[in-house]
Amino acid sequence: MGNVLSVVILAAGQGKRMYSTLPKVLHPLAGKAMLRHVVDAAECLQPALLCIVYGHGAEQVQSALSDIKAEWALQAQQLGTGHAVRQALPVLPADGMTLVLFGDVPLIRVETLQAMLAVGSPDKLVLLTDVIDNPKGYGRIVRDANERIVRIVEEKDATDAERHIREINTGIMLLPNQYLGGWLERLSNGNAQGEYYLTDVISMAVSDGVEVRSASPAASWETYGVNSKVQLAELERIHQLEQAKRLLEQGTMLLDPARIDIRGSLSVGRDVVIDVNCVFEGQVELADGVRIGANCMIRNARIGEQTEIAPFSHIDDAEVGAGARIGPYARLRPGAKLADDTHVGNFVEIKKSAVGLGSKVNHLSYIGDADIGAGVNVGAGTITCNYDGVNKHKTVIENNAFIGSGTMLVAPVTVEQGATIGAGSTITRHAPAEKLTLERAKQVTVPGWSRPEKD
Ligand code: UD1
Ligand code: MG
Repeated sequence: MGNVLSVVILAAGQGKRMYSTLPKVLHPLAGKAMLRHVVDAAECLQPALLCIVYGHGAEQVQSALSDIKAEWALQAQQLGTGHAVRQALPVLPADGMTLVLFGDVPLIRVETLQAMLAVGSPDKLVLLTDVIDNPKGYGRIVRDANERIVRIVEEKDATDAERHIREINTGIMLLPNQYLGGWLERLSNGNAQGEYYLTDVISMAVSDGVEVRSASPAASWETYGVNSKVQLAELERIHQLEQAKRLLEQGTMLLDPARIDIRGSLSVGRDVVIDVNCVFEGQVELADGVRIGANCMIRNARIGEQTEIAPFSHIDDAEVGAGARIGPYARLRPGAKLADDTHVGNFVEIKKSAVGLGSKVNHLSYIGDADIGAGVNVGAGTITCNYDGVNKHKTVIENNAFIGSGTMLVAPVTVEQGATIGAGSTITRHAPAEKLTLERAKQVTVPGWSRPEKD
């Protein structure tokens, strides 16, 4: 019981310098709200309690994270970090430890938090500190002659000598619950900013004889905070580059690790090649040997072994089998399910349709609500007319059918196995198996006609 961990995330700040109606902590990084990054990291620690201190944009923040299991503590007025943690006190257990995280410090790594927990215990206080070249703006860690931490001084309250200290308070700390309530009660706002500083509990701990320890992050960027869109963009790049590095380390070939964006989870097999400017969203799986051309947008998709996605393709909620060739300029929409060895070429849109083994739709076509068998060839400019203005209807094209170019398939309609449709037909009824069906006005040549001439 004694080691019980609680996590408090401070997320009440307004973020004035974001110049946005969106609360700061809801700004997305890699497509996910900053606050959610922090919540996800916290959840990895499996805390007994997670409490979010919220204030600005209260309703928006709460509804954006309504799916998570957390206590919400409202801080109506932002009177300082100490005041913020005090709002969480009523829900915190009397013992154990409380980890304080910031909702606008989204890149903190679970390993770093675990390192803090490893040196912590319910009778100690652990600070996450870092030594940086330019400590401006941060609270400084003041140590005594024996290198023991004695207090934190905020930049605005610091003496010139203290401002030279390069060890800074990242803001993240692990606090012993048995003392925390008492310390928070004793905070005063008699300082340069008129705020209740959480950092003042350090000197209280020292005078109460509580041991203060420190840990530091593996990388400085883990504790970078976001106060502006410039900083958000910087963190986005750091995060994307880290993800790209991980892919390279796993053996994925990225033609330029600075030009890939992963907003979600990308899982990749062996010998996968990704050209520049591709964006991956949601859950994407690329099997062994997949090649992705430049400028593709791929979201919630599974791509089978050895398949090539040529440049400028857009894939959303779709599945592609092995050995397929998609694009360039293909669009696979939700519910497109392409079997192995399929070919989908330029300016082809496929929605909620199955395309069977080895079938081809190579040029300028729309396939919606269709069930296409194996070995089918769909000629250029073919359209499944699936929508009558009210309802959607299904087109069935059975195995080995051949659809001539420029065919309109007015659904509901079936083209049976092995049938051939003459080019330019508008097909409104079943086309029987193994036969040629066409619908085409007779070609005429008008005798005695001549082109009009200019008056
Ligand atoms: C704080 C630390 C400083 C540290 C720095 C690291 C204090 C007094 N100072 O300073 O030592 O170097 O972080 O970035 O703690 N918040 C609330 N309610 C409040 C005040 C703040 O929820 O009333 C939230 C903010 O939204 C933010 C976080 O707490 O996410 C930190 O607040 P901020 O005002 O940025 O603190 P700093 O002055 O930067
Ligand atoms: Mg700050």
